[in-house]
Amino acid sequence: MGEHRGHRWLRWPSDPARTRLAFGADYNPEQWPRHVWPEDARAMQTAGVNIVSLAIFSWARLQPAEDEWNFGWLDEVMDLLHAHGIAVDLATATASPPPWLTTKNPQILPVDRDGRTLWPGGRQHWRPTSPIFRDHALHLTRRLAERYGRHPALAAWHISNELGCHNAYDYSDDAAAAFRAWLQARYGTLDALNQAWATSFWSQHYSDWAQILPPRSAASYPNPTQQLDFKRFSSDALKDHLRAERDLLREITPDIPITTNFMIMGETSGMNYADWAGEIDFVANDHYLTPGPQEYDELSFCANLTGNLAEGRPWFLMEHSTSAVNWQPVNVAKRPGQMARDSLTHVAHGADAVCFFQWRQSAAGAEKYHSGMIPHVGQDSDVFRAVTDLGATLHKLAEVAGTSRTRAQAAIIFDWESWWAAELDSHPTSRLRYRQEALDWYSAFLNLGIRADVVPTTAPLEHYALLIAPILHVVPQPLADRLRSYVDNGGHLVTTYFSGIVDENDRVWLGGYPGAIRDLLGIRIHEFTPLLDDQSVELDNGTTGTLWTDHIELTDNATEVLARYKTGDHTDRPAITRYVTGTGSASYVSTRLGDTGLVTVLADLASRAGVHSELPEHLRGRVELAARGPYQFLINRTETPVDITDIPGQRLTIDRPRLNINEVVVLRSPTLLPDAEPIDS
Ligand code: GAL
Repeated sequence: MGEHRGHRWLRWPSDPARTRLAFGADYNPEQWPRHVWPEDARAMQTAGVNIVSLAIFSWARLQPAEDEWNFGWLDEVMDLLHAHGIAVDLATATASPPPWLTTKNPQILPVDRDGRTLWPGGRQHWRPTSPIFRDHALHLTRRLAERYGRHPALAAWHISNELGCHNAYDYSDDAAAAFRAWLQARYGTLDALNQAWATSFWSQHYSDWAQILPPRSAASYPNPTQQLDFKRFSSDALKDHLRAERDLLREITPDIPITTNFMIMGETSGMNYADWAGEIDFVANDHYLTPGPQEYDELSFCANLTGNLAEGRPWFLMEHSTSAVNWQPVNVAKRPGQMARDSLTHVAHGADAVCFFQWRQSAAGAEKYHSGMIPHVGQDSDVFRAVTDLGATLHKLAEVAGTSRTRAQAAIIFDWESWWAAELDSHPTSRLRYRQEALDWYSAFLNLGIRADVVPTTAPLEHYALLIAPILHVVPQPLADRLRSYVDNGGHLVTTYFSGIVDENDRVWLGGYPGAIRDLLGIRIHEFTPLLDDQSVELDNGTTGTLWTDHIELTDNATEVLARYKTGDHTDRPAITRYVTGTGSASYVSTRLGDTGLVTVLADLASRAGVHSELPEHLRGRVELAARGPYQFLINRTETPVDITDIPGQRLTIDRPRLNINEVVVLRSPTLLPDAEPIDS
């Protein structure tokens, strides 16, 4: 954990004492003629905008040539915003290098695993490990910090932008050199590396550090531990860039808080944000919906995880969309009310800032069909009216700002190392999706109306009565010990197929799966038996399994069988087990049940763990309940209105006895959670 973790929030220059939720967007005035800027500032006031992120992609404008600087326009925009009471989250502008820089130094361009250069023309075409890029980026950062560090509009620094969005994996020679240095620091000696990577296999023994490469496209599967280490290294290389800019900013402007926007959404997996969160003063995230049946659940899952990476403290929603994006196969528009519901769901999970990409929808360029706060049609539009309404709602909710998330009784562990390792190639199945399994458990909690936190492995697990560890594939000995003591101390652990299989070097724990935790579970698996795409198995609890099954042997008389296979190769054998030790227990689910099947299983496991819904029965599954401080949020997650007449508490948003589709009610001093504790207590 970094020493600065999460304890500094925005500096509100014009009115430091006031509590408020931040509301705004990425603002790209350089895309518009100067006469539009005052109109923008006025419209921002109309909408209730109080912060914008500025200069994110402005490098070419700020530094048109190596020895030419152009700050005049930014001075003007900063002053204009300040005059309108709008604070600035100022980017270091290093996200995308200008053409002069890449023309002069093509060696900063990233290279993919097939050796192809990623050319300029898009954005973020830089190697995280390029010393030349680093020098230029720090030079620009310094110039901005020196020029704007005392500007009255400055509320925070925004380092780069979505680090790793397009350049998470670089296989260049710079990357190779930095990877070797990283490996030397990790292993110390080549012997240790050879041992960890099991290079006695396939004649891979290294006799010189210089022989080691990133896992470039190879004739066959690259060494799995090399692949896993390269993922760790790549996340660290970007983190290193973040730290370099951060350290410089701290040196020049020690009082200005620093953030960078994470991408906790969809299948973005390259950056281990659990490891990054401690590096910045407050956590920020970008989130765009993944259309589909779990669209809402996925949003809530990401907001929840972000809030827990922030250790329960407020965080900043840096980007989401007012309506459609431009980068999905089909870019669906949001339905009436959906934008506000999405925004308030983030607030419910601890966001104290609700911002969008972007303020004014671009007229040209790759993102011209991406929605904005002011759409192409202009201010006289449903989108802008919805934006203005949202600004007013956030204003009404100002008192929520600064409150901490309220801890749930249950949690789901989310672990980047297991995500990376479980989805490596040359595995029992290539169909396994780590994140989908975790999301399915989360949906099951929502369907049962039970609150659950989504937490990294480093979270204080002992606070939870029920802990779900889906596909916790990588279990080093210290984690196995923590899980053991969690159960010994009365915790109820639930884990699934392909968990506890390997150590930190991707080496299998031998003697029967899941070697790291088999004693804890009271089982021993002889063999994995994954299922083909068109295969499924029936369980005797009425659920259906896909993807995976295991041949399970019970190793202790005390291991209970909660469900057996009714069909398939393992007919009559255990499918779900539970081993009780003292006051705790450890359960194992050996197949993929999906969000529906998991409801049946989770209902049973939660009630055995003494974990129950805090909602009245008629609301369970229909609304999501989330809480921070004395505030509770009830969010309609269905396609029909929900009656809330019987819910106590003073209503800060709607004051009706029912929640319509996409509606959220915020309650003060309610009684649904009398004993709940804040997460950072
Ligand atoms: C983000 C990015 C923004 C914008 C947005 C579009 O990845 O930070 O600059 O491109 O996506 O959805």
